[in-house]
Amino acid sequence: MKVDGQHMRSIELAGDGWSCNVIDQRLLPHRIEWASLETLAEACTAISEMWVRGAPLIGITAAYGVALAMHADPSDASLDCAYRELAATRPTAINLLWALDLMRTTLESVEPRAREQAAYEQAAKMAEQDVRSCEAIGEHGLGVLQEIAEQRDSAGPLRILTHCNAGWLATVDWGTALAPIYKAHALGIDLMVYVDETRPRNQGASLTAWELAQEGIPHALIVDNVGGHLMQHGMVDLCIVGSDRTTATGDVCNKIGTYLKALAAYDNDVPFFAALPFSTIDWSVRDGVQEIPIEERAQREVTHIRGVNSRGELDELSLAPQHTRALNFGFDVTPARLVTKIITERGVAEASEQGLSELYKLARGAHTS
Ligand code: MRU
Repeated sequence: MKVDGQHMRSIELAGDGWSCNVIDQRLLPHRIEWASLETLAEACTAISEMWVRGAPLIGITAAYGVALAMHADPSDASLDCAYRELAATRPTAINLLWALDLMRTTLESVEPRAREQAAYEQAAKMAEQDVRSCEAIGEHGLGVLQEIAEQRDSAGPLRILTHCNAGWLATVDWGTALAPIYKAHALGIDLMVYVDETRPRNQGASLTAWELAQEGIPHALIVDNVGGHLMQHGMVDLCIVGSDRTTATGDVCNKIGTYLKALAAYDNDVPFFAALPFSTIDWSVRDGVQEIPIEERAQREVTHIRGVNSRGELDELSLAPQHTRALNFGFDVTPARLVTKIITERGVAEASEQGLSELYKLARGAHTS
């Protein structure tokens, strides 16, 4: 997508052909700074400290993290260590393990002396695949948006509520939940996007609002508690969110607060969509609430808030009484029954085991024929 009119991706190989550049998302929207990742340790820090975030981008960064490890030492022991250390960075987004498994399977069958090249080729392939998948999610989601725009009674812009950041910054390019919005805007469909700020790290306020502004898409930032009120008053035509892990049965794990939006949507007959690539589906999990590990992050993310002060410096302010204990769960699970449809790169599915597996089989058939 574009930044100041210039095309950008969230991660790219540097000119030296082996190190990797990522946008340091902790500094957005105030500064655009690139961070250079040169070692496995730096790739691990970039993921765990959320310089990069969003399930698909976490996966691609991990793939390049393995490539960096192979650049330093292509031995079996180094491959094992890279897998282990990257897998421990964040627990919820399944794209991380998906990417690491793919890298390990590819590299295990390659002689150590050829591993470095094979690792960079595989990581680049996965990054390109992510771009293609997200663009395809955009196309399929566009059809959904057009259908809702045609069917609704009210005039004016199509009003969409989204949570967290599931735009191009959370992927390599295009995004998942925002991809259909970008496609619709490019076609001239009149849109209004309500952006949940998404406490505690405010990915909506700092990333989604920034992305939408860069593309000139009308939007309004809302605090996390407003969505229910908007839906009760007929001010939202649909909700669309991303996912960090989706079960074989269609439960959607996404940024904390998603579940409450889905409940409000259900209660007010507002369609609720999750947009995700197949790499986000964990076919081994059936009950998302019971089985998906939910990341618990530092209390300080809740008791403090980060931003830019009146001198233009990045700063942190304390919000709560000293020593207040905070609970900071990063994700929650929206049961499939609250999800209207799942939008993937292969088409739109019912949020159910049958819906997802039929789409999977259909696409496999198309690939093998
Ligand atoms: O903690 P984060 O910022 O990594 O959480 C990101 C989200 O929850 C996104 O909505 C999700 O990864 C879908 S991204 C395309």
